[in-house]
Amino acid sequence: MKVKFIKKTKIKKEKSILDVALDLNLKIKASCDGRGKCGKCMVRVADGEVSELSKAEKKFLSDEQIEKGYRLACETKIIGDAKIELID
Ligand code: FES
Repeated sequence: MKVKFIKKTKIKKEKSILDVALDLNLKIKASCDGRGKCGKCMVRVADGEVSELSKAEKKFLSDEQIEKGYRLACETKIIGDAKIELID
C-alpha cells in the first residue's frame, strides 16, 4: 500500500529544501548536517523551480537519478513554487 501526505508552506526567500523540511518538522536523513558531504538527503523534485545542480549533487547522484528529478535536499534551493517528494 502506498500513502501520500502533502504538507504546504510559504517561504519568503530562497531556502534549501532541507531547511524548509526542518522548518516543517519533516525528517530527511542528513548525516553530514547539510554540508553536501554524505549524499543521504536525497529527495525528488516532482515539479517546480529549484537551483542548478551543485558539484556535490553531480558527485552523489547518477545520471538516471538526476533525470528522474532526484536532488540533495541540502544542496538544492527552492527558488519558486515547487513540489518536493520525500523518499524513504
Ligand atoms: S545532508 Fe549530507 S549531503 Fe545533504
